[in-house]
Amino acid sequence: MADSGRPGVIRRFFTWLFSPSARWSVFALLLVGLIIGFVATAGTQVAMAVTGSNEFCGTACHSHTQFVYPEYKASVHGKNRTGVQAGCSDCHVPHTYPAKLIYKAQAGIRDAIAEARGTISTQEKFEAKRWELANHVWDEMKANNSANCRTCHTPEAMDAAKQNEDAVKQHKKFAAGKATCIECHTGVAHKEPEEPKAPVKTSSLQ
Ligand code: HEC
Ligand code: HEC
Ligand code: HEC
Repeated sequence: MADSGRPGVIRRFFTWLFSPSARWSVFALLLVGLIIGFVATAGTQVAMAVTGSNEFCGTACHSHTQFVYPEYKASVHGKNRTGVQAGCSDCHVPHTYPAKLIYKAQAGIRDAIAEARGTISTQEKFEAKRWELANHVWDEMKANNSANCRTCHTPEAMDAAKQNEDAVKQHKKFAAGKATCIECHTGVAHKEPEEPKAPVKTSSLQ
Protein backbone atom coordinates (compact mmCIF):
# COMPACT_ATOMS: atom_id res chain seq x y z
CA MET A 1 0.00 0.00 0.00
CA ALA A 2 2.48 2.55 1.18
CA ASP A 3 5.01 0.96 -1.18
CA SER A 4 2.89 1.36 -4.30
CA GLY A 5 4.97 4.33 -5.50
CA ARG A 6 8.29 2.48 -5.09
CA PRO A 7 10.26 1.78 -8.32
CA GLY A 8 10.62 -1.85 -9.43
CA VAL A 9 13.59 -4.02 -8.59
CA ILE A 10 15.41 -3.50 -11.92
CA ARG A 11 15.07 0.27 -11.67
CA ARG A 12 16.34 0.16 -8.08
CA PHE A 13 19.29 -1.99 -9.14
CA PHE A 14 20.31 0.51 -11.83
CA THR A 15 19.87 3.47 -9.47
CA TRP A 16 22.11 1.65 -6.98
CA LEU A 17 24.63 0.71 -9.65
CA PHE A 18 25.10 4.24 -10.93
CA SER A 19 24.94 6.09 -7.61
CA PRO A 20 28.16 6.97 -5.79
CA SER A 21 29.13 4.40 -3.22
CA ALA A 22 28.48 5.42 0.35
CA ARG A 23 29.65 2.21 1.96
CA TRP A 24 32.80 1.39 -0.08
CA SER A 25 35.84 3.60 -0.06
CA VAL A 26 37.52 4.54 -3.35
CA PHE A 27 40.44 2.35 -2.24
CA ALA A 28 38.20 -0.71 -1.80
CA LEU A 29 36.67 -0.16 -5.24
CA LEU A 30 40.09 0.24 -6.83
CA LEU A 31 41.25 -2.94 -5.12
CA VAL A 32 38.26 -4.89 -6.50
CA GLY A 33 39.06 -3.54 -10.00
CA LEU A 34 42.71 -4.51 -9.66
CA ILE A 35 41.82 -8.02 -8.51
CA ILE A 36 39.43 -8.50 -11.44
CA GLY A 37 42.08 -7.17 -13.83
CA PHE A 38 44.74 -9.45 -12.38
CA VAL A 39 42.54 -12.56 -12.52
CA ALA A 40 41.57 -11.81 -16.16
CA THR A 41 45.21 -11.25 -17.21
CA ALA A 42 46.53 -14.28 -15.35
CA GLY A 43 43.64 -16.37 -16.69
CA THR A 44 44.48 -15.38 -20.27
CA GLN A 45 48.14 -16.29 -19.71
CA VAL A 46 47.21 -19.69 -18.28
CA ALA A 47 44.81 -20.34 -21.19
CA MET A 48 47.56 -19.37 -23.69
CA ALA A 49 50.08 -21.68 -22.01
CA VAL A 50 47.69 -24.65 -21.80
CA THR A 51 46.44 -24.35 -25.39
CA GLY A 52 49.98 -23.69 -26.65
CA SER A 53 51.57 -26.86 -25.24
CA ASN A 54 52.76 -29.71 -27.47
CA GLU A 55 50.52 -32.01 -25.46
CA PHE A 56 47.42 -29.93 -26.32
CA CYS A 57 48.29 -29.22 -29.98
CA GLY A 58 49.48 -32.76 -30.54
CA THR A 59 46.64 -34.66 -28.90
CA ALA A 60 43.50 -32.49 -28.62
CA CYS A 61 42.48 -33.44 -32.17
CA HIS A 62 42.30 -37.00 -33.47
CA SER A 63 43.98 -36.06 -36.76
CA HIS A 64 47.00 -34.55 -35.02
CA THR A 65 47.37 -37.51 -32.62
CA GLN A 66 47.33 -39.90 -35.57
CA PHE A 67 49.46 -38.24 -38.21
CA VAL A 68 51.05 -34.98 -37.11
CA TYR A 69 52.40 -35.57 -33.59
CA PRO A 70 54.33 -38.83 -34.22
CA GLU A 71 56.13 -37.26 -37.22
CA TYR A 72 57.06 -34.15 -35.25
CA LYS A 73 58.39 -36.22 -32.32
CA ALA A 74 60.80 -38.00 -34.64
CA SER A 75 61.94 -34.78 -36.38
CA VAL A 76 65.05 -32.76 -35.50
CA HIS A 77 62.90 -30.21 -33.66
CA GLY A 78 61.20 -32.90 -31.53
CA LYS A 79 64.20 -35.09 -30.72
CA ASN A 80 67.91 -34.41 -31.13
CA ARG A 81 71.37 -34.75 -29.59
CA THR A 82 71.03 -31.87 -27.10
CA GLY A 83 67.35 -32.31 -26.22
CA VAL A 84 66.39 -28.69 -26.99
CA GLN A 85 62.99 -28.69 -28.69
CA ALA A 86 60.88 -26.28 -30.72
CA GLY A 87 57.23 -26.75 -29.81
CA CYS A 88 54.28 -26.50 -32.22
CA SER A 89 53.41 -23.00 -31.09
CA ASP A 90 57.03 -21.79 -31.27
CA CYS A 91 56.80 -22.21 -35.05
CA HIS A 92 53.09 -21.79 -35.77
CA VAL A 93 51.83 -18.98 -33.53
CA PRO A 94 52.97 -15.32 -33.45
CA HIS A 95 55.06 -14.47 -30.39
CA THR A 96 53.76 -10.94 -29.88
CA TYR A 97 50.48 -9.55 -28.50
CA PRO A 98 47.80 -8.90 -29.70
CA ALA A 99 48.77 -10.87 -32.87
CA LYS A 100 49.01 -14.06 -30.79
CA LEU A 101 45.46 -13.75 -29.40
CA ILE A 102 43.95 -12.94 -32.81
CA TYR A 103 45.80 -15.81 -34.53
CA LYS A 104 44.82 -18.32 -31.84
CA ALA A 105 41.16 -17.32 -31.93
CA GLN A 106 40.99 -17.57 -35.74
CA ALA A 107 42.99 -20.80 -36.06
CA GLY A 108 41.19 -22.34 -33.08
CA ILE A 109 37.74 -21.82 -34.58
CA ARG A 110 38.83 -22.90 -38.09
CA ASP A 111 40.58 -26.04 -36.82
CA ALA A 112 37.70 -27.00 -34.49
CA ILE A 113 35.21 -26.83 -37.38
CA ALA A 114 37.53 -28.82 -39.68
CA GLU A 115 38.09 -31.45 -36.98
CA ALA A 116 34.33 -31.78 -36.36
CA ARG A 117 33.74 -32.20 -40.10
CA GLY A 118 36.56 -34.74 -40.34
CA THR A 119 38.36 -32.81 -43.08
CA ILE A 120 41.63 -34.70 -42.43
CA SER A 121 40.28 -37.62 -40.39
CA THR A 122 41.95 -40.40 -42.39
CA GLN A 123 45.48 -40.86 -43.69
CA GLU A 124 44.17 -40.56 -47.29
CA LYS A 125 42.32 -37.31 -46.60
CA PHE A 126 45.33 -35.91 -44.76
CA GLU A 127 47.75 -36.76 -47.58
CA ALA A 128 45.35 -35.22 -50.12
CA LYS A 129 45.07 -31.98 -48.15
CA ARG A 130 48.66 -31.76 -47.04
CA TRP A 131 50.11 -29.78 -49.92
CA GLU A 132 47.47 -27.08 -49.46
CA LEU A 133 47.98 -26.92 -45.66
CA ALA A 134 51.75 -26.76 -46.01
CA ASN A 135 51.42 -23.96 -48.54
CA HIS A 136 49.41 -21.90 -46.05
CA VAL A 137 52.26 -22.23 -43.56
CA TRP A 138 54.94 -21.45 -46.15
CA ASP A 139 53.03 -18.34 -47.30
CA GLU A 140 52.72 -17.07 -43.73
CA MET A 141 56.42 -17.63 -43.08
CA LYS A 142 57.51 -16.02 -46.35
CA ALA A 143 55.33 -13.01 -45.55
CA ASN A 144 56.95 -12.42 -42.16
CA ASN A 145 60.53 -13.31 -43.17
CA SER A 146 60.37 -16.52 -41.09
CA ALA A 147 59.93 -14.49 -37.90
CA ASN A 148 59.19 -17.52 -35.72
CA CYS A 149 62.28 -19.42 -36.88
CA ARG A 150 64.34 -16.39 -36.02
CA THR A 151 63.06 -16.26 -32.42
CA CYS A 152 65.51 -19.15 -31.86
CA HIS A 153 67.95 -19.08 -34.80
CA THR A 154 69.74 -15.74 -35.01
CA PRO A 155 71.68 -15.59 -38.31
CA GLU A 156 74.15 -13.06 -36.86
CA ALA A 157 74.92 -15.53 -34.08
CA MET A 158 75.72 -18.38 -36.47
CA ASP A 159 79.36 -19.45 -36.35
CA ALA A 160 80.30 -19.69 -40.03
CA ALA A 161 83.46 -21.59 -39.09
CA LYS A 162 81.26 -24.39 -37.77
CA GLN A 163 78.92 -24.55 -40.78
CA ASN A 164 79.74 -26.26 -44.04
CA GLU A 165 80.65 -24.29 -47.15
CA ASP A 166 77.24 -24.70 -48.71
CA ALA A 167 75.42 -23.37 -45.64
CA VAL A 168 77.70 -20.32 -45.36
CA LYS A 169 77.26 -19.55 -49.05
CA GLN A 170 73.48 -19.93 -48.94
CA HIS A 171 73.10 -17.98 -45.70
CA LYS A 172 74.65 -14.97 -47.41
CA LYS A 173 71.45 -14.88 -49.48
CA PHE A 174 69.46 -14.45 -46.28
CA ALA A 175 71.74 -11.67 -45.09
CA ALA A 176 71.33 -9.96 -48.48
CA GLY A 177 67.54 -10.20 -48.23
CA LYS A 178 67.34 -12.49 -51.28
CA ALA A 179 65.78 -15.50 -49.55
CA THR A 180 64.23 -16.33 -46.20
CA CYS A 181 64.73 -19.47 -44.03
CA ILE A 182 61.53 -21.24 -45.09
CA GLU A 183 62.34 -20.96 -48.80
CA CYS A 184 65.29 -23.30 -48.28
CA HIS A 185 64.34 -25.20 -45.10
CA THR A 186 60.97 -26.89 -45.52
CA GLY A 187 60.05 -30.13 -43.78
CA VAL A 188 62.00 -29.35 -40.60
CA ALA A 189 59.31 -30.71 -38.25
CA HIS A 190 57.14 -32.79 -40.61
CA LYS A 191 57.53 -35.01 -43.62
CA GLU A 192 58.07 -32.84 -46.68
CA PRO A 193 54.73 -32.92 -48.56
CA GLU A 194 54.76 -33.73 -52.26
CA GLU A 195 53.25 -31.43 -54.83
CA PRO A 196 50.21 -33.18 -56.37
CA LYS A 197 50.74 -34.15 -60.02
CA ALA A 198 47.17 -33.27 -60.96
CA PRO A 199 44.79 -30.89 -59.15
CA VAL A 200 43.06 -32.76 -56.30
CA LYS A 201 39.54 -33.82 -57.31
CA THR A 202 37.02 -32.40 -54.86
CA SER A 203 34.34 -34.83 -56.07
CA SER A 204 36.30 -37.88 -54.94
CA LEU A 205 34.61 -39.95 -52.24
CA GLN A 206 37.71 -40.11 -50.03
C1 HEC B 1 62.12 -22.98 -30.15
C2 HEC B 1 63.34 -22.77 -30.91
C3 HEC B 1 63.37 -23.10 -32.40
C4 HEC B 1 62.52 -22.64 -33.38
C5 HEC B 1 61.31 -21.73 -33.22
C6 HEC B 1 63.02 -23.18 -34.62
N1 HEC B 1 64.12 -23.95 -34.40
FE1 HEC B 1 65.25 -24.87 -35.82
N2 HEC B 1 66.34 -25.77 -34.37
C7 HEC B 1 66.24 -25.52 -33.01
C8 HEC B 1 67.20 -26.33 -32.31
C9 HEC B 1 67.41 -26.35 -30.80
C10 HEC B 1 67.89 -27.09 -33.29
C11 HEC B 1 69.07 -27.99 -33.10
C12 HEC B 1 68.74 -29.38 -32.77
C13 HEC B 1 70.04 -30.14 -32.58
O1 HEC B 1 70.55 -30.10 -31.47
O2 HEC B 1 70.49 -30.72 -33.54
C14 HEC B 1 67.32 -26.70 -34.58
C15 HEC B 1 67.75 -27.20 -35.79
C16 HEC B 1 67.42 -26.66 -37.02
C17 HEC B 1 68.02 -27.01 -38.28
C18 HEC B 1 69.15 -28.02 -38.50
C19 HEC B 1 68.50 -29.30 -38.92
C20 HEC B 1 69.43 -30.48 -38.98
O3 HEC B 1 69.00 -31.45 -39.61
O4 HEC B 1 70.50 -30.46 -38.37
C21 HEC B 1 67.41 -26.26 -39.25
C22 HEC B 1 67.70 -26.26 -40.74
C23 HEC B 1 66.38 -25.46 -38.58
N3 HEC B 1 66.44 -25.74 -37.23
C24 HEC B 1 65.54 -24.60 -39.22
C25 HEC B 1 64.42 -24.00 -38.61
C26 HEC B 1 63.39 -23.31 -39.32
C27 HEC B 1 63.32 -23.15 -40.81
C28 HEC B 1 62.50 -22.86 -38.37
C29 HEC B 1 61.19 -22.12 -38.59
C30 HEC B 1 60.22 -22.83 -39.43
C31 HEC B 1 63.03 -23.26 -37.07
N4 HEC B 1 64.19 -23.96 -37.26
C32 HEC B 1 62.44 -22.93 -35.85
C33 HEC B 1 65.38 -24.62 -32.41
C34 HEC B 1 64.36 -23.93 -33.04
C1 HEC C 1 69.24 -19.80 -49.83
C2 HEC C 1 68.97 -20.95 -48.99
C3 HEC C 1 69.04 -20.82 -47.49
C4 HEC C 1 68.47 -19.84 -46.71
C5 HEC C 1 67.68 -18.62 -47.14
C6 HEC C 1 68.70 -20.24 -45.32
N1 HEC C 1 69.41 -21.40 -45.30
FE1 HEC C 1 69.98 -22.43 -43.65
N2 HEC C 1 71.04 -23.74 -44.77
C7 HEC C 1 71.04 -23.77 -46.16
C8 HEC C 1 71.91 -24.86 -46.61
C9 HEC C 1 72.15 -25.26 -48.05
C10 HEC C 1 72.41 -25.48 -45.44
C11 HEC C 1 73.35 -26.69 -45.36
C12 HEC C 1 72.52 -27.93 -45.36
C13 HEC C 1 73.30 -29.18 -45.21
O1 HEC C 1 74.50 -29.17 -45.21
O2 HEC C 1 72.64 -30.23 -45.07
C14 HEC C 1 71.83 -24.77 -44.30
C15 HEC C 1 72.05 -25.10 -42.98
C16 HEC C 1 71.34 -24.55 -41.91
C17 HEC C 1 71.41 -25.00 -40.54
C18 HEC C 1 72.26 -26.15 -40.03
C19 HEC C 1 73.66 -25.67 -39.84
C20 HEC C 1 74.59 -26.79 -39.41
O3 HEC C 1 75.80 -26.56 -39.50
O4 HEC C 1 74.14 -27.85 -39.01
C21 HEC C 1 70.57 -24.24 -39.81
C22 HEC C 1 70.29 -24.31 -38.34
C23 HEC C 1 69.98 -23.27 -40.72
N3 HEC C 1 70.48 -23.49 -41.97
C24 HEC C 1 69.04 -22.32 -40.36
C25 HEC C 1 68.62 -21.30 -41.19
C26 HEC C 1 67.80 -20.20 -40.75
C27 HEC C 1 67.26 -20.02 -39.35
C28 HEC C 1 67.59 -19.39 -41.82
C29 HEC C 1 66.88 -18.05 -41.86
C30 HEC C 1 67.42 -17.05 -40.95
C31 HEC C 1 68.27 -20.02 -42.94
N4 HEC C 1 68.89 -21.15 -42.51
C32 HEC C 1 68.25 -19.52 -44.24
C33 HEC C 1 70.34 -22.91 -46.98
C34 HEC C 1 69.66 -21.79 -46.59
C1 HEC D 1 60.30 -26.08 -36.45
C2 HEC D 1 59.03 -25.48 -36.71
C3 HEC D 1 57.77 -26.33 -36.59
C4 HEC D 1 57.35 -27.05 -35.51
C5 HEC D 1 58.05 -27.26 -34.19
C6 HEC D 1 56.06 -27.60 -35.86
N1 HEC D 1 55.73 -27.22 -37.13
FE1 HEC D 1 54.01 -27.70 -38.13
N2 HEC D 1 54.78 -26.89 -39.84
C7 HEC D 1 55.96 -26.20 -39.94
C8 HEC D 1 56.21 -25.90 -41.34
C9 HEC D 1 57.40 -25.15 -41.88
C10 HEC D 1 55.13 -26.44 -42.08
C11 HEC D 1 54.94 -26.43 -43.61
C12 HEC D 1 55.29 -27.80 -44.19
C13 HEC D 1 56.72 -28.19 -43.99
O1 HEC D 1 57.64 -27.48 -44.44
O2 HEC D 1 56.93 -29.25 -43.34
C14 HEC D 1 54.23 -27.06 -41.09
C15 HEC D 1 53.05 -27.70 -41.42
C16 HEC D 1 52.13 -28.15 -40.49
C17 HEC D 1 50.81 -28.70 -40.81
C18 HEC D 1 50.23 -28.86 -42.21
C19 HEC D 1 50.40 -30.28 -42.71
C20 HEC D 1 51.81 -30.67 -43.06
O3 HEC D 1 52.28 -31.68 -42.55
O4 HEC D 1 52.47 -29.94 -43.83
C21 HEC D 1 50.22 -29.03 -39.61
C22 HEC D 1 48.84 -29.64 -39.41
C23 HEC D 1 51.17 -28.70 -38.55
N3 HEC D 1 52.31 -28.17 -39.12
C24 HEC D 1 50.94 -28.88 -37.20
C25 HEC D 1 51.96 -28.91 -36.24
C26 HEC D 1 51.83 -29.44 -34.89
C27 HEC D 1 50.53 -29.97 -34.28
C28 HEC D 1 53.05 -29.35 -34.30
C29 HEC D 1 53.46 -29.86 -32.93
C30 HEC D 1 53.19 -31.27 -32.64
C31 HEC D 1 53.95 -28.71 -35.26
N4 HEC D 1 53.25 -28.47 -36.41
C32 HEC D 1 55.28 -28.39 -35.02
C33 HEC D 1 56.79 -25.86 -38.88
C34 HEC D 1 56.75 -26.44 -37.62
